[in-house]
Amino acid sequence: MQVRFQPDDVTVPAREGETLLQAGWQAGIYLRQTCGGQGTCAKCRVELLSGELTALQEGAIWEEASGRWALACQTVPASEVEVRVPPRTRLSEDEGAGVLTETDEEEIAAPAPLYLRREVALKAPTLEDATDDLLRLGMALRAEGELTGARLEAVRRLPTVLREHDFQITVDLARRGGGWELAEVSPPGVTEPPFGVAVDIGTTTVAVSLVDLSSGYSLAAAGDYNAQVRLGEDVISRIVFTEESPHGLHDMRRAVLNTVNGLLEKLSARTSIDRNSIRAAAVAGNTTMISLLLGVSPRFLRREPYVPPLTRVPVLAAREVGLRIHPEAQVYCLPSVASYLGADLVSGVLATGLGHSEGVSLLLDVGTNGEMVLGGADWLLGCACSAGPAFEGSGIRSGTRAVPGAIEKVEVAPGGRSVEIGTMGGARPVGICGSGLIEALGSLAEAGVLDRAGKFLPDPDNPRLRRGEDGWEYLLAGAADTAVEEDIVLAQTDLDNLIRAKGAIFAGLRTLLQVADLRPSDIQRVYIAGGFGRFLDLERSIRIGLLPDLPREVFRYVGNSSLRGAKEVLLDRRRWEEAHETADRLTYVELSAGTSFMDEFVSALFLPHTDLELFPSVRLAG
Ligand code: FES
Repeated sequence: MQVRFQPDDVTVPAREGETLLQAGWQAGIYLRQTCGGQGTCAKCRVELLSGELTALQEGAIWEEASGRWALACQTVPASEVEVRVPPRTRLSEDEGAGVLTETDEEEIAAPAPLYLRREVALKAPTLEDATDDLLRLGMALRAEGELTGARLEAVRRLPTVLREHDFQITVDLARRGGGWELAEVSPPGVTEPPFGVAVDIGTTTVAVSLVDLSSGYSLAAAGDYNAQVRLGEDVISRIVFTEESPHGLHDMRRAVLNTVNGLLEKLSARTSIDRNSIRAAAVAGNTTMISLLLGVSPRFLRREPYVPPLTRVPVLAAREVGLRIHPEAQVYCLPSVASYLGADLVSGVLATGLGHSEGVSLLLDVGTNGEMVLGGADWLLGCACSAGPAFEGSGIRSGTRAVPGAIEKVEVAPGGRSVEIGTMGGARPVGICGSGLIEALGSLAEAGVLDRAGKFLPDPDNPRLRRGEDGWEYLLAGAADTAVEEDIVLAQTDLDNLIRAKGAIFAGLRTLLQVADLRPSDIQRVYIAGGFGRFLDLERSIRIGLLPDLPREVFRYVGNSSLRGAKEVLLDRRRWEEAHETADRLTYVELSAGTSFMDEFVSALFLPHTDLELFPSVRLAG
């Protein structure tokens, strides 16, 4: 049976039992699927132009005035079929372009990297001193530390290279445990330095930075969307995909490897540095991303008692991991703390210096999970609260990720009868992204369109406020002005999702503060990390009660602190040890177990909060 996809005009054979969604993958047509193909998000809807489908769940095929529609993840062809993928359903290839080349290019002074290249002169052996070659080398290298291991290939070369070059050689040393492993033996006079890469694998984006391990210089950086997005938009939907799709785990691993290896290729081309010269990689990412990179199933991570497969990853060879750099290059994955408090946060703690700082600091990374670490030199507490995908623009009817055309600025006039919007790159609107949603919620509240619970106040004279399929909705842009041929609206259910998301994050923070017996005003620094933080409007984030109402100067956007921390680890081996110490001393607070989180959550479901004393600078409309 064949499936023809329009408007691409591509035909693929559908295998027995294969859904339209899966058939699309074969054709290189990727559909949105926030729920991971569970039939609950309706993001994968396609128009059935001809032919018959079998529904795998009730309601998966329906009629509208515009034609017959189907959920691609819940329908299987029963004959030759032709379907149309509307723009809103398609996961555009553009979404991978032009993202995140931003990285912190600061150099790290006085590098003490995890991989060293040294020229060393050995005392030639005599009849009186017949110590073996490897031991002799170890003694010559004592100033660097202990030689505790060696690759067999290097040992094979050692005797000959030593004697051919008068006992003066170049050696490469890779850090392993508390000592060094002899990685390579070469003649003297090697001028090329070894290179390393820091890698941050985010759920949405991946960033790679190429560094000279001898000087500590950052040579180039590149970023792209994580290709796993095509198989599931958030962590949970990806875990579901690994369980339910045949070869799901393999496909997920392949997808992220393709992204990382594609970026490595790009960096190699841009700098003319051969990928084989890259001898070490430090990798940070959340617990699920690291598991998927390694091809280790994360399925138990989402089931009580939420146990991750591993938090301390042994040092691995690049060939085992699948990274296309020198096959024997060592891969150092930063440690994580718990299923939902990953190496990305540990790396962020390193990069911000939070673990050494006096007083109380907060590191906050807002994504599908609100992950945070509170503390300083004496103690560290961390938690993760499920914010749902709202801040990533998913689970929102007109939601989109931060792509060109995403609405990121919203100014609602008092009373709400007119609105000004601004889009990323000034393109025609395609939807509204997370930062736009925060702006919209804050602006609608300021304009008096919402009550304190975030519910629309009915106003029959407001042409933008109307009754939609899910109750009241507010029109941001009419179909004629958008690139998706549909109205872009904010429905009451969207606002409810958003308020739950911001409420969860604020409740997580309040719970941590309670565990530490502190008040919000005790926080002296707030580091906001992650791509999302870059676009966050501080005033509006406080206005809706997402961020605490603190003096504005305490907030600092720290960019991709996860990548920065990985780079620091690569260039300073003490940081590698510190990463493990940080993970050891970071106490994970499980919000679902015996904390006041649920009470705090309920109190935070208002704009900005039930307790207005927590938000003294927020003035309410009216
Ligand atoms: Fe099909 Fe969510 S309903 S992917």
